[in-house]
Amino acid sequence: MPATVLIGAQWGDEGKGRVADWLASQSSVVARYAGGDNAGHTVAVGDKVYKLHLIPSGIVRERVICALGNGLVINPVNLVREMDGLIAAGISITPQRLAISVRAHIITPAHIALDRAAETARGAEAIGTTLRGIGPAYMDKTGRTGLRAGEMLDIEAFAESLTRHIESANERLIRKGFEPVAAGPAVAEYVTAAHRLRPYLTDVSELLDEQLKAGARVLCEGAQGTLLDIDHGDYPYVTSSSPTAGGALTGLGIGPRVVDRVVGVAKSYSTRVGGGPMPTELAGELADRLRGSGQHFWDEFGTTTGRPRRCGWLDMVQLRYAARVNGFTELVLTKLDILTGFDAIQVAVAYDIDGQRRSTPPSTVRELERAQPIYETFTGWQEDVQSARQPDGLPSAARAYVEGISALAGLPLTAVSVGPERDQLVVFPG
Ligand code: IMP
Repeated sequence: MPATVLIGAQWGDEGKGRVADWLASQSSVVARYAGGDNAGHTVAVGDKVYKLHLIPSGIVRERVICALGNGLVINPVNLVREMDGLIAAGISITPQRLAISVRAHIITPAHIALDRAAETARGAEAIGTTLRGIGPAYMDKTGRTGLRAGEMLDIEAFAESLTRHIESANERLIRKGFEPVAAGPAVAEYVTAAHRLRPYLTDVSELLDEQLKAGARVLCEGAQGTLLDIDHGDYPYVTSSSPTAGGALTGLGIGPRVVDRVVGVAKSYSTRVGGGPMPTELAGELADRLRGSGQHFWDEFGTTTGRPRRCGWLDMVQLRYAARVNGFTELVLTKLDILTGFDAIQVAVAYDIDGQRRSTPPSTVRELERAQPIYETFTGWQEDVQSARQPDGLPSAARAYVEGISALAGLPLTAVSVGPERDQLVVFPG
């Protein structure tokens, strides 16, 4: 059977975790292909809420095999912590269920210190990274000085490489006026994690090939979102990996012919964390209503950093762009319930940039910063949508909204989430 790629169509936080959990019910393997523990994927099952940063959302379904591909940057200590949290919650984590690519790269405490140092040095132009060491780890990867997960198979050599890496990073940190990292305790902690992770290290590309040949459906679970992509996002306000469709192939070691579905996930409105342009951003009462109070896990505060997210109306200019860059075959909309109670809902259908109407996003951040959204207004609804399970269970205005988005995107709608629970999903007939 072929592979499905699941991709965030916006700036991350689209609700990919719950969509991955749904698609995992139709898959045998779920594999993460990019990013690291900067991601925060939430899955709610009954009274349990799982917050995942590295481990694919498929882990909460017992018979699903999960894999971390070569495209990831992995903090081994945080991975072990996440595994232990899941084990404590009753989830089985064994080498039969979880595979870690020997080719994935490792995030070290020196990368985290360098991330912080770079952000401090950027001052007012800070990217607003998650401070998880993502950028510096990918810099070492592309600079061909990184540490790969497979090095943990030889613990002694790993400890030596890690010590050398921290010492070299310390020279850079000291030169820039920042505190060096204490190598001894860091290496001890990483060696302990390496002992735990060794049994899980494998060739993920080979595993996926075997599974696909045996008839398994593989779900490639994206992290972050299209507009944070290193190539296709709002550079430099991006992450350092490729969350887009191409990243799934290079980040897992699979070929394009195995992919038959590319599912774009978009929130019914927009959010962004960190710096960078966001043409439809709202301020004041409307933004506060979208964001929520922060008391619920679904409110718009970062799963990884707790930062309040910037909120605004849905931006079709960006969504159509995401559909093009990724070749989406379908669209899933999330968090429709959050829009209940608005009298009118705006959707940006084009931008005005310096007096010119544009239907595609400009390629520079400078131009995007000048973009004034041109809105189309949809009628709001007051009725509850959380109990809807079929398209005709939605209030007519809510149905008109999601069908309008699907038409504007030029994509068939597969599902709409109407609440945080696993079953709060309206599935549209194919
Ligand atoms: P980094 O990935 O930590 O380097 O952060 C780079 C940018 O991507 C920052 O604006 C972060 O806020 C954003 N970012 C990284 N991961 C996520 C995510 O999972 N959700 C939303 N934004 C993210």
